[in-house]
Amino acid sequence: MSFSLPERVTLKGPNFIREVFERGVGVPGFISFGIGNPAPEAIPVKVIQDAFDAIVHDNPMSLLQYGPMQGDARLAELTLQRLSAVHHMNLEGQGLIISNGAGQLLGLVPITVLEPGDEVYMDDYTFTSAINSVRNMGGKAIGIKTDAHGMIPSELESAAKSGKGKYIYLIPNFQNPTGITMPLERRKEIYAIASKYDLFIYEDDPYGEIRFAGEHVPSFKSFDTENRVLYAGSYSKTLSAGLRVGFLLGPEDVISTIQALKNNTAGQMPLVTQKVVAHVLDHINYDEHLENVRAVY
Ligand SMILES: Cc1ncc(COP(=O)(O)O)c(C=O)c1O
Repeated sequence: MSFSLPERVTLKGPNFIREVFERGVGVPGFISFGIGNPAPEAIPVKVIQDAFDAIVHDNPMSLLQYGPMQGDARLAELTLQRLSAVHHMNLEGQGLIISNGAGQLLGLVPITVLEPGDEVYMDDYTFTSAINSVRNMGGKAIGIKTDAHGMIPSELESAAKSGKGKYIYLIPNFQNPTGITMPLERRKEIYAIASKYDLFIYEDDPYGEIRFAGEHVPSFKSFDTENRVLYAGSYSKTLSAGLRVGFLLGPEDVISTIQALKNNTAGQMPLVTQKVVAHVLDHINYDEHLENVRAVY
């Protein structure tokens, strides 16, 4: 028999970037700038090896059973502490889910919030999975023109007037692929439009901690007085991409729904990788480590 697949799932788009990356896998000396592939020198191999040794030997049963839906408690605690203390995010009324990298969230968010025909506004050049996963849910990915400061507010507003918008997808720091960082003033203008048209903002921030120069720009989530921002982060670029550990902070009700959908489709996160990340964070000075990572790049 031949399966008749719905059109929306066949709209996966060509992913040339991934193809180029995979051609280079295993080729000595091949450095791909196609995907955000971390430099091997930036991965704290010894610390991660020690973490594996410790957690496997200390309490193997804590790894070998099902884990909690929302993720490992210690990792969630350490992640929330940093989001609050270093990134000044208000955690009141917020939930956190640990995910299989920030990448998994690119699928989970549209699955959770989109109705067919809903529009999602994103930079006209942006991360391929964010575009494709919206299309796969029957949503419309609408590319908004950008300038040197990122998404242009007037262009966003023209699109949002359709009244069909659900959220704005943004990579405000070191955008993939343009590299643009959106200044605070522009972030505030975009937030005001989100507020006017009742859109939420999906802030995807895997690169924000790896700033080479200049001042950190406050995240949307740090001034989210209306509780309309979902903030996604990742340990891929700072510790190890292969461990596949990311997280999403957002309104409690949205996060608990995402958790339930994740449970239905992908189950809980593997415990071993989460415990490795938690152990690493408990045993290193993460800010010093980030300095090393920045120095490598
Ligand atoms: C903008 C953006 N979002 C999400 C991801 C996914 O990262 P992770 O490894 O955490 O799944 C990437 C990876 O390159 C990315 O560039």
